[in-house]
Amino acid sequence: MHLLITGGAGFIGSNFIHYTLRHRPECRITVLDAMTYAGNKASLAPAGDRIELVVGRIEDANLVDRLVQACDIVVHFAAESHNDNSIANPLPFVTTNVVGTFTLLEAARRHGRRFHHVSTDEVFGDLELDDPEKFRETTPYNPSSPYSATKAGSDLLVKAWVRTFGLNATISNCSNNYGPYQHIEKFIPRQITNVLSGLRPKLYGAGANVRDWIHVDDHNSAVWAILDRARPGSYYMIGADGEQNNKAVIELILELMGKPRDWYDHVNDRPGHDLRYAIDSAKIRSELGWTPRYTTFHDGLAATIAWYRDHADWWQPLKKAVEARYAKQGQ
Ligand code: NAD
Ligand code: DAU
Repeated sequence: MHLLITGGAGFIGSNFIHYTLRHRPECRITVLDAMTYAGNKASLAPAGDRIELVVGRIEDANLVDRLVQACDIVVHFAAESHNDNSIANPLPFVTTNVVGTFTLLEAARRHGRRFHHVSTDEVFGDLELDDPEKFRETTPYNPSSPYSATKAGSDLLVKAWVRTFGLNATISNCSNNYGPYQHIEKFIPRQITNVLSGLRPKLYGAGANVRDWIHVDDHNSAVWAILDRARPGSYYMIGADGEQNNKAVIELILELMGKPRDWYDHVNDRPGHDLRYAIDSAKIRSELGWTPRYTTFHDGLAATIAWYRDHADWWQPLKKAVEARYAKQGQ
């Protein structure tokens, strides 16, 4: 099986490649990645020459046509992925997430290729803290930020290509991932690398916002369950029952790193900040027999802290610029 993996030099895509090389060594892998600020060749180093890396953009119709024709399955991770960046400058999100996904869909349609679209729970908006409901496959779309609006747009394009053109496509909507190789602009690695750099963690607002954390390997095993067993045109929520509020996550990081639990700063809140995400993953568990392996957030987080401690060469070159950008936003 020849996989075309878009965004394979990013956080989840690179972990997907390492997961695939471990569990599915028979697969041939081509990566298409623009190597934006979020792409990192060092994240692919352990794969060595077992993969082919093509540096290019998913909106490049000629390049995409050639690569899609040559593969059996497209697994589409590439995106502009950070909410705060989408508030500062939305245009790259429209270009990559909407036009890029459209370009890939057209090539998959022309060549009759299987297409899996990796998406987010944020397309559904947010929940109240005490809402007994969780996001499920039938929840109406109601995105809040420019990032989530463009991901919602890309999901709707996929759904239209399935219904109108009969494209053999699937979508997964996953909650917040954590694990190795996550860009240090994101919440958990930012706080870990702050502590490792002697800086205090930064909490937006009061920190009551809840995210439903899942280890990246569990996300990727779920994507494989979909590639292996899902019916064409089916959609799945992916989550591991990992709800935590941000304040509790910072306190746990501090505790695991041997610092006082109150050694952090409150900083400016994110405009339009979604309050709570929570996933009902009953469909993928019952239909495809998927279950997460990292069942305690505490242990997964401890392993992630150890990874950043052991891989300072991977993140240190990025740290100064990331913190300078946040400082300008009062964050
Ligand atoms: P990331 O920002 O770490 O990586 C994105 C990758 O895409 C980078 O390597 C970047 O260079 C590449 N890229 C960006 N624009 C491109 C373009 N125009 N053409 C080609 N490549 C381009 O993102 P991530 O956190 O790994 O997220 C991967 C996917 O998973 C995204 O679609 C995201 O919406 C989705 N997702 C992420 C999470 C999460 O918690 N991180 C949760 C659910 C879904
Ligand atoms: O839910 C899935 C989504 O999760 C993905 O689609 C996105 O690509 C991914 O970035 C993530 O979005 P969030 O906005 O939830 O993640 P982020 O890591 O930016 O922030 C997590 C929470 O932590 C959020 O409530 C904002 C807060 N936060 C973030 C940072 C960077 C802080 O309190 N302090 C910080 O320094």
